[in-house]
Amino acid sequence: MFNNIFQNKKVLVTGNTGFKGSWLTLWLLKLGANITGISKDIPTNPSLFKALKLQKKIEHHFIDVKEIKKLRKIIFSTQPDFIFHLAAQPIVSESYKNPIETISSNSIGTTNLLQIMCDIDWKCSALLVTSDKCYENIEKSAGYKETDKLGGKDIYSSSKAAAEIFISSYFRTFLNSKDNLTLAVGRAGNVIGGGDWARDRLVVDCMKAWGKNRPVSIRNPLSTRPWQHVLEPLSGYLHLANLIYQSRELNGEAFNFGPNQDDILNVESLIKKLSKKFELNKSYKIIESNDFPESGLLQLDIGKAKKLLRWQPVLNTSEMIESVSDWYFNFFKKNVDLMELTLKQIEIYEFKASKSKLPWSNL
Ligand SMILES: NC(=O)c1ccc[n+]([C@@H]2O[C@H](COP(=O)([O-])OP(=O)(O)OC[C@H]3O[C@@H](n4cnc5c(N)ncnc54)[C@H](O)[C@@H]3O)[C@@H](O)[C@H]2O)c1
Repeated sequence: MFNNIFQNKKVLVTGNTGFKGSWLTLWLLKLGANITGISKDIPTNPSLFKALKLQKKIEHHFIDVKEIKKLRKIIFSTQPDFIFHLAAQPIVSESYKNPIETISSNSIGTTNLLQIMCDIDWKCSALLVTSDKCYENIEKSAGYKETDKLGGKDIYSSSKAAAEIFISSYFRTFLNSKDNLTLAVGRAGNVIGGGDWARDRLVVDCMKAWGKNRPVSIRNPLSTRPWQHVLEPLSGYLHLANLIYQSRELNGEAFNFGPNQDDILNVESLIKKLSKKFELNKSYKIIESNDFPESGLLQLDIGKAKKLLRWQPVLNTSEMIESVSDWYFNFFKKNVDLMELTLKQIEIYEFKASKSKLPWSNL
């Protein structure tokens, strides 16, 4: 997998205690990496990071990426071969309540990392994670391309668009000329998977309600989102990091990672499919209230990743839904080994990718 590039490499993951960060850490451990994690806290309870006991398997630091001196100290003492930057305040509703914190963590936090990267004097490749929401959402039905206009009506989206602009400026001003360093950007859509407990996320709300045998309340049944299993963008990040470590060809490029266009579901059909395993009398109810405005339509064009990276989604919609509902179903059954379950899902994903002959899985 991935050219075996991560075997015995020093890999720094920011945001490692979060949902995506925990899956990424587990996958990197499986690939033989030595991991240093930086996060300001453990953002949820329950927590995948805790359930997998990841703190014992890596060198973990509770640090806020807004604190550039502390961040610099860890990066310089670790001298990582790879950096995966995921730390962010990722909840749109939270960005309404705490706009300054969201902007400081997401935009300034990323800029702090970029500033530190200017002084790195060892070979290092960085994969910076932003979001599908970095695009100015004009409610179009075609997917957004990497060349589309950045923007954001809400603070979360604009904080990610701002991070993108800083990444691009730092790259063109300082980082492109550094022979020892490469970077790339990953923009992913709405990610779902076992072990997410963040609030105001549809699948998590479902699981919290269904765990108590209650219907989930939904606001916008016809909204579409580019849902994808968490391992899909992670395979994209790992593959892209591998490629920019080997060659400078894609240095500074941004890539969308999302589902195929024909695999896009609306809220109502996703819920219906997800709930099957749980055998509930009523799995959802539609409510009127809308605490904060949300975009109705958001899709990504993944043509660039398909063409230049030969990356593509591995799971079809039913496989994605089976994986997600199976994880939570087992979680609620208690006495299930969550490490075994999560690792098994990674193994199945790797197996399906190699059956589909995806380059990253056969390298
Ligand atoms: N989950 C999704 O659907 C999705 C979609 C698009 C983009 N993303 C992006 O992917 C990344 C990870 O998302 P997630 O869903 O795992 O989020 P999460 O809330 O589960 O985890 C966030 C992580 O960032 C850390 N963090 C937050 N603010 C920090 C700060 N100031 N300093 C240091 N650490 C900080 C938290 O401690 C945690 O480890 C984020 O950059 C997010 O914006 C997520």
